Amino acid sequence: MTKTFDFQTYLADGRKKVEDRLKLVFDQERPALHASLYEAMSYSVLNGGKRLRALLCLASAQACKKYSVSRDKTDDQIEEMVMPLACALEMVHAMSLIHDDLPCLDNDELRRGKPTNHRVFGEAMALLAGDGLLVFANEYLIGESLEKVLPQDLLAVSHGLSRALGPTGMVGGQVLDMSNTGSADGQLDLVVLENIHNGKTGALIRFCLWGGARAIGADELRLSAMARFGEILGLAFQITDDLLDVTGDAASLGKTPGKDAQSNKATFVRLLGLDGARNKLEMLHKEGSSVLSRALDQNEQQILSNLLDYAINRIN
Ligand code: IPE
Ligand code: IPE
Ligand code: MG
Ligand code: MG
Ligand code: MG
Repeated sequence: MTKTFDFQTYLADGRKKVEDRLKLVFDQERPALHASLYEAMSYSVLNGGKRLRALLCLASAQACKKYSVSRDKTDDQIEEMVMPLACALEMVHAMSLIHDDLPCLDNDELRRGKPTNHRVFGEAMALLAGDGLLVFANEYLIGESLEKVLPQDLLAVSHGLSRALGPTGMVGGQVLDMSNTGSADGQLDLVVLENIHNGKTGALIRFCLWGGARAIGADELRLSAMARFGEILGLAFQITDDLLDVTGDAASLGKTPGKDAQSNKATFVRLLGLDGARNKLEMLHKEGSSVLSRALDQNEQQILSNLLDYAINRIN
């Protein structure tokens, strides 16, 4: 009898694997770290979250296996090859949340249902914990992958990660976000808004999908499909975040709702309204599904397709 696929079980199992590995890594590093720095870094990286970026990276590698130089490896071996990257992604993501919540950026007090990093450890430590996570992520990625991933693939992955996070990626998007925060209605247009979202959130998510496939040596067709699918999912993810800020509540979101309107943030809801934002999500969902169906077999598409649904229909 074939086992039917249960996405909720997949999510729970995947999260546990990623969390167990992160815990192991931080336990190993602990003796070498200043006690307060360890507390501040681990507070944000081991403190829950959906682990979506790690899961996207792992799923992309599995989906593209047949079209890669790693096609003869088992699923477990593929997972072992990509797990360091999946964990590094959660570290840089945690950094982005710590910095995003700082008073000089979004000034938030609640994250993942707990006080934000700077509320617990102070702004100086929050800044440094973010820096520590950012740099440690690459140290760990390279150190752990050296024996598992081909050197040219690892170099391309590390380069891609830096680019996704840097001035033309997340940092650039955060700058655009800040420079459009508080702008008057009518000043914002759809092109600028998409640039903000593609930069601050989309660049890293695109990299998660491309990077998972790149780490195992996937072919060009799969790499460009994963990059495009990642762009679509990344934009859809941030539009959903904009919607949840309006429709969600603190208990399920784990963050303070209504902050975007309060700060006059550039969001899809503000520009297009709730229905307009939802229509855009529907279009992105269709486009994402068609990118998958052009590049992968039906069974290879399943988890990525479920992850796209989840990015759009989640409640937190
Ligand atoms: C929050 O990301 C920041 C955005 C890019 C919107 P997530 O919603 O993935 O945060 P966690 O990791 O699940 O807490
Ligand atoms: C977050 O965008 C982008 C990054 C963290 C880089 P938001 O500012 O909308 O994310 P939340 O709503 O605080 O999670
Ligand atoms: Mg922000
Ligand atoms: Mg924010
Ligand atoms: Mg938000």
